[in-house]
Amino acid sequence: MHYEAVPVVDFTEIQQSNGQFPTEIADLIRAAGCCVARGVIPRAQALDWKASLLSYVKRHPDIRRIPNDSDPQIYSTFWQKAQIEARSHPAVIRTQVAMSQLYTASGDTQVDLVNQALYADRWRVRRPGSVGMFQPHLDNGSIERWEDEEYGRVFRKIWKGKWEEYDAWDMDHRAEAVMDLYGGPGACSAFRSLQGLLSIDDNGPRCGTIQFLPDIKLSTAYILLRPFFNDQNKLDMDSTYFYGAAPGQGQIVKDIWHPHLQLNKTIISCPKAEPGDYVFWHCDLVHKVEEEHNGTNDSSVVYIPVVPLCTYNIGNLIDQRKAFLEGVPPPDMPPQSESEGFEKGHEDRGTPDDILTVEGRRSMGLEPFVENEPGITNGQKSIREAGNEALGF
Ligand SMILES: [Fe+2]
Repeated sequence: MHYEAVPVVDFTEIQQSNGQFPTEIADLIRAAGCCVARGVIPRAQALDWKASLLSYVKRHPDIRRIPNDSDPQIYSTFWQKAQIEARSHPAVIRTQVAMSQLYTASGDTQVDLVNQALYADRWRVRRPGSVGMFQPHLDNGSIERWEDEEYGRVFRKIWKGKWEEYDAWDMDHRAEAVMDLYGGPGACSAFRSLQGLLSIDDNGPRCGTIQFLPDIKLSTAYILLRPFFNDQNKLDMDSTYFYGAAPGQGQIVKDIWHPHLQLNKTIISCPKAEPGDYVFWHCDLVHKVEEEHNGTNDSSVVYIPVVPLCTYNIGNLIDQRKAFLEGVPPPDMPPQSESEGFEKGHEDRGTPDDILTVEGRRSMGLEPFVENEPGITNGQKSIREAGNEALGF
């Protein structure tokens, strides 16, 4: 482990600590809200996955390219073989579980920080010279943080003026919070406690990589209290304007709306992430991608978030399993046109046979959760039972 504003940890340190982060490292990650886990997957394996993904889209020109066919950065495939393997790889899951367990939950909270519910996302190949697509924002909803009562409870210390005591890693009210009151293109039907990207090429600063504001507590307190002061920095309890929180969109953060965040100084590039390194960021963390890519090779990643098993995520898991087995896009990412190819027609797409582990099968709704595991909390046991019942086991 060495210290940077974005903590960097070696996968071996997780292995040596019985699948958990050593306390000192855990505290650094909790303060920053993000980290790079190095060496999760061997370099050669990660590059093989990239080659496999690229050859798949080459064989299937009907797959949607975003933003367009001439400069594709994101590919709308959800069930390619490499994606299935990466999501179910034992080291990927081990790292996810270590990250998931940075959160804490009361014994009765219906959440399982060990088991996960799949959220199938896409992958990216950003070529040198291409322009970045994402400005500073937070995922997991926007106005919902103020509007949904349960979501609001997550931030109760901030509302009470005790922002220093706010714990971004307390799961108790997050597990039931509603983050997509309005649907829309920025909405996500699952609760991702952490976003993640698995690097499949040499990513690094100035080469089109992701950027973070690595102070989760300060940035969250500021963004949430922003509606309570006006442009003269005076307390304003009458305003009903929520800067950057348009319904159905992610929470946008901008210099003109959030001047004291000093985004031009506080947002920094994620350190180098080589093929096989895994980058995580907290669901409330400000992030964006670099505008410019001045490197010489692709900045390529597979998006694999952490999605703890909780009531909110069970319906999603059922939908994802169905979409996987049918080879169609998951409900949050419907096709944009009739000509956009469904993977259904691709015989070379991934199947359950490509899942590498029993934990992977479980996260895809194909294997029951273990209900009577010694040492689990009441909340874990009860959510596993609910999950199994909903999935028909
Ligand atoms: Fe995002």
